[in-house]
Amino acid sequence: MTTSKTMRAAVLKNYNGLLTVEERDIPTPRSGELLIKIAASPINPSDVMFTYGMYGIRKPLPAIPGFEASGVVVAVGAGVDPGRLGQRVACFAGTDDGSWAEYMRVPATNTFPVADHVSDEQASMMLVNPLTARALVDMVEGQHAFVQTAAASALGKMIQRLASERGLATINIVRRGEAVAELRALGAEHVLNSHDANFEETFRDLAKSLNARLCFDAVAGELTGRLLHLMPRGSRMIVYGGLSMQPVTIGLDDLIFRHKQVEGFWLSTWMPTLSPAHLQSIWQEEQTHIGGTFKTDVRARYPIDQIAEALAEYSAHMSGGKVLITP
Ligand SMILES: NC(=O)c1ccc[n+]([C@@H]2O[C@H](COP(=O)([O-])OP(=O)(O)OC[C@H]3O[C@@H](n4cnc5c(N)ncnc54)[C@H](OP(=O)(O)O)[C@@H]3O)[C@@H](O)[C@H]2O)c1
Repeated sequence: MTTSKTMRAAVLKNYNGLLTVEERDIPTPRSGELLIKIAASPINPSDVMFTYGMYGIRKPLPAIPGFEASGVVVAVGAGVDPGRLGQRVACFAGTDDGSWAEYMRVPATNTFPVADHVSDEQASMMLVNPLTARALVDMVEGQHAFVQTAAASALGKMIQRLASERGLATINIVRRGEAVAELRALGAEHVLNSHDANFEETFRDLAKSLNARLCFDAVAGELTGRLLHLMPRGSRMIVYGGLSMQPVTIGLDDLIFRHKQVEGFWLSTWMPTLSPAHLQSIWQEEQTHIGGTFKTDVRARYPIDQIAEALAEYSAHMSGGKVLITP
């Protein structure tokens, strides 16, 4: 543990996407909590949405953003096993300050021990996306094909790998030519660029021939309704992200006369449906597949002091690999 009483932290003062770097007191863990010295914390779309006040969680401001991280336990609160001191963990932020800082205080229940073979960087990205990939692909049960949008995202690639392992056919939708090649390199057979001239016809025919009646959509906006309209009668759209930052529009005909359905998915409401033992067993399994199914590419690392540059680099090319904050 450091002898310093303060730490560097990225601080959000208004929900306008702008962060300042400040010296803050290192928090003291309360009962049932741990203090984590942060090793790495990714910039995820949910973090960006949070900084604009567009996410499902709002915190009193000023607040430190960052929803997931890896690090080492450096202090424990009352009721927490002191044997956890020095343990490497992956963790979710709690209800107060997040992980874009040198230290974060979290409930012990938000932490997952990291195996020796897993790097700090990979551990920092092993909760939000891998758990979501698992949850979504489990919903495909009983069908042999599905559609996904934003397929070249870190999560989309995990979904593609999991689907291949389970023998499921996927129709992957991306918005750039380079992303088509990236998905093909992962073994994806069907990859469509939504900006291609013949996209709608190709998509409609493929969804029909594979009988793909389930779509996981991370884009929202007009794409959601456009795809649902082109999918077979009775299709189901699960919207789990809002990358377009636009509301979903759906044709009434599709909802009423073609028996199509739209619903949402959020990890934060799915996780409490699992028992702690089940969650830990998924965690152990994830760690054994960290080099393959759940691997995330990293393209840049920034110290806290360069948070503005880190956010700009991430937003300029999101599929290019994650940008990590490494305090
Ligand atoms: N609901 C949940 O519980 C939950 C949990 C985890 C993740 N998610 C969501 O999953 C999605 C992927 O997350 P991630 O961390 O894997 O993302 P990521 O690796 O940062 O990649 C983002 C991807 O989205 C694409 N994209 C951005 N804006 C787009 C737009 N307007 N139209 C089409 N594509 C667009 C990017 O393509 P370019 O490279 O072309 O920019 C990139 O491929 C996000 O929406 C995130 O919020 C939801």
